[in-house]
Amino acid sequence: MCGIVGYIGNKKAEPILLNGLSRLEYRGYDSAGIATIENTAIKTIKNKGRVAELASMPNIDKLNGTIGIGHTRWATHGRPSSENSHPHMDNSNKFAVVHNGIIENYADLRDFLKSHNYFFLSETDTEVIPNLIHFHYINSKFEGEKRFLKAVIDTCKMLKGSFALEIICSDFPDNMVVVRKDSPLVIGKGKDECYISSDIPAILSFTKDFYLLNNFEYAYISRNNIKFFENDLKEFNKEINNITWDAGAAEKDGYPDFMLKEINEQPKSIRETIGSRISLNKPTVLDEIDLDKKYLSSINKICIVACGTAMHAGLAGKYIFEAICEIPAEVEAASEFRYRNPIINEKTLCIFITQSGETADTIAALNLAKSKGAKTIAISNVIGSSITREADYTLYTHAGPEIAVASTKAYTSQIVLLAILAINFAEKLGINSEKIAELKDDILKLPSQIEEVLKDTSKIKEFANKIYKEKDVFYIGRGIDYTVALEGSLKLKEISYVHSEAYPSGELKHGAIALIENGVTLVSILTNRLLVEKSISNIQEVVTRGAKTFIVTNQDFDNKFDVIIRVPKTNTLIAPVLSVIPLQLLAYYISKEKGLDVDKPRNLAKSVTVE
Ligand code: M6R
Repeated sequence: MCGIVGYIGNKKAEPILLNGLSRLEYRGYDSAGIATIENTAIKTIKNKGRVAELASMPNIDKLNGTIGIGHTRWATHGRPSSENSHPHMDNSNKFAVVHNGIIENYADLRDFLKSHNYFFLSETDTEVIPNLIHFHYINSKFEGEKRFLKAVIDTCKMLKGSFALEIICSDFPDNMVVVRKDSPLVIGKGKDECYISSDIPAILSFTKDFYLLNNFEYAYISRNNIKFFENDLKEFNKEINNITWDAGAAEKDGYPDFMLKEINEQPKSIRETIGSRISLNKPTVLDEIDLDKKYLSSINKICIVACGTAMHAGLAGKYIFEAICEIPAEVEAASEFRYRNPIINEKTLCIFITQSGETADTIAALNLAKSKGAKTIAISNVIGSSITREADYTLYTHAGPEIAVASTKAYTSQIVLLAILAINFAEKLGINSEKIAELKDDILKLPSQIEEVLKDTSKIKEFANKIYKEKDVFYIGRGIDYTVALEGSLKLKEISYVHSEAYPSGELKHGAIALIENGVTLVSILTNRLLVEKSISNIQEVVTRGAKTFIVTNQDFDNKFDVIIRVPKTNTLIAPVLSVIPLQLLAYYISKEKGLDVDKPRNLAKSVTVE
């Protein structure tokens, strides 16, 4: 939700900021703006619309400053408009601020500022921030850089909610202050220059050396120096991290969209997730997790908590943990979990799955679980992301940057990692050794099997072309295939804007079958040998009523259906990794047929850092 970028160095800031914003646009894209300092005056250009529109605004290239901040917005408070776009300034135009997050007590802060004669030009929660900084600045007893920094610290102490902030001040044309609380922010260090961003991939082409800020750590940035401070103005040293990601990973690489690229990257991403974690005839290597047999024997259940696609991966995880570890597993949406009183304690192991590691509901759910004494494992794709700092243990999917709003490769990597974790637990528990050996073998085959699935996608494209004008599509599956139906249906909704629903195959006849009429499309997933006949009967019930059918299967049967997509045979527990791919592609091609922006679907943002 919102992307922020900053630059301080010896080059012109404007093109660097625009480049960074275009890479961060997946985080929000209803308005954009930048501000730079020139001759001790802040100059701002901002507007409603996408970064490309900002880039074509008259005079934008006349911004010559070598220090600047930029923002691409996903509106929360106030409609998309020029006034509500960031950067926001204080009433005297001394400070400019870009903000990602939400200030929950902004109404009280507005009242406070109004009582001191401040006025507001926007409907945003953010506009209180530059004005509060100004208020503290003019009332400060400090001089020089401490005055600037302390005004920011005093302001942050008053803010409730989440924020990643970049602040420039016309009195300090060679400095920038940045800080975060519960919203992401990284600082990249180059030679005599620094880059600031909401995520690493946006600035990976400039540097590989990054500082990862923790909550309430302030960075006072100059061209060749960064000083870190705590809330009490105490300076401290911070370790720099060298990121090994390849800069090309954040480029489209010849693909028309990130989503298609990421779908096609799945053989590679799964190879990376597996890494050296499993090999045949040897125990799994998961050095990050030191839970032993005694603990694993004592747990009464595993709770898997996540949102959206990550929750769908968790649903597959439930089947895997129950089958391999023989421990009951529950899955719940983080937004529900956090607002009830879940029955968990020190005997519960809670696993939180989040690609971005920044999802507000998932982080809040983790903190609730911790407060109840449960042990927590985070599964994330983003190194150093917020959730990894809160969890007892972190496992990284290593899927590489996922830029498209619709999650694809992160989902398959999450399932593989859950399977590896389940194997690791079962090995420690000393159970199901035969099943484990087979599962390991099948996991290792996945990358080349995905390559097979991706080889010929023409039937999927043709079917998309036939049905792209449809208003409703139904997805069905039994057992773990139902979890894939949910994911396929979500993909279709989010990037193609086609209404769709997913049902357990046997449930359809308990109500929703009333909606089936001539021409309706039914997508069915069928990967469990033991359930083939029953599932085919369910499909026939719908075909009889005139439905068009698109079936993804690894089973052999003679029945004729409109389209049958064959995927390689594998263990049912990891079958989602293969069977989801035709569904990702179906959603993708339908979206393309409709001429939509696949990577940036309406109303959505990649990382949901608000409740
Ligand atoms: O970053 P997270 O994995 O925590 O994100 C969770 C969901 O917001 C995310 O999976 C969302 O559902 C995707 N847009 C689905 O494609």
